[in-house]
Amino acid sequence: MRVIVAKNAAEVGKRAAGIIAATVNREPSCVLGLATGGTPLDAYRELIRRHKEEGLDFSRVTTFNLDEYVGLPPTHPQSYRYFMQTNLFDHLNIVPANTHVPDGRSLNFETHCRQYEHRIADAGGIDLQLLGVGSDGHIAFNEPGSSLGSRTRLKTLTRETVEANARFFGSIDKVPRLAITMGVGTILETKRCLLLAVGEHKAAAVQATVEGPVSAQVTASALQLHQEVIVILDEAAARRLERRAYYDDVEQAQTLLEEGRFQELGIGNQS
Ligand code: F6R
Repeated sequence: MRVIVAKNAAEVGKRAAGIIAATVNREPSCVLGLATGGTPLDAYRELIRRHKEEGLDFSRVTTFNLDEYVGLPPTHPQSYRYFMQTNLFDHLNIVPANTHVPDGRSLNFETHCRQYEHRIADAGGIDLQLLGVGSDGHIAFNEPGSSLGSRTRLKTLTRETVEANARFFGSIDKVPRLAITMGVGTILETKRCLLLAVGEHKAAAVQATVEGPVSAQVTASALQLHQEVIVILDEAAARRLERRAYYDDVEQAQTLLEEGRFQELGIGNQS
């Protein structure tokens, strides 16, 4: 895992948007995996700015979102489809038919989840998957205990998640108890992952994700098995990392390589 620590949340968003934009510029018909929640909002705002001010072109991009509540129509203000429309899609030149979010109205769960996986495969797989992490270490709605080989499926939310979400729904009785979510196995098949975390309340989950044992109790830790993961954190979320100095050294070496400052890396100094 490549761990980048940025100054603050706004910088995390800018770095993440920079990586997404570079992917879109390099491969205009790329497939992006997207997340909802508070964490990616700064990155989405920056992508919108780059589209409006710099002409970043999404006309050939395809997207797949990680998850959706079961029982909510796309027009419900708490549905993840609504979130994506209002916070990103409505402000870009993306083709609506190329944006995919699991359908919270579908009761034919197995078929719908199988089709979602097929659509991802038909699109050629996900080139870059954006992820947040829950304070219990979940990715997408893969709650603690989820199989690390899981595929897109129906998932029962934990009581903690339901209680945490009650504030958005006005009352706990209105909070959906089920979600459709990409599985950990689905996420591990993506070509590149970009995991973002911001704030002190994520510090323990980040430490367990990056440095803890791979465990179904912290589903984000499965990313240690992924071929290419970039983790971007603010200082608060990075606070508990034990190997922080090494991550900073790696970033510094990367910068020197990119700038061609080989002597400072000890290359070509030997007689
Ligand atoms: C959202 C998702 C979740 C969130 C996670 C963090 O699509 O899959 O796993 O990324 O719960 O949420 P925030 O960003 O609100 O802290």
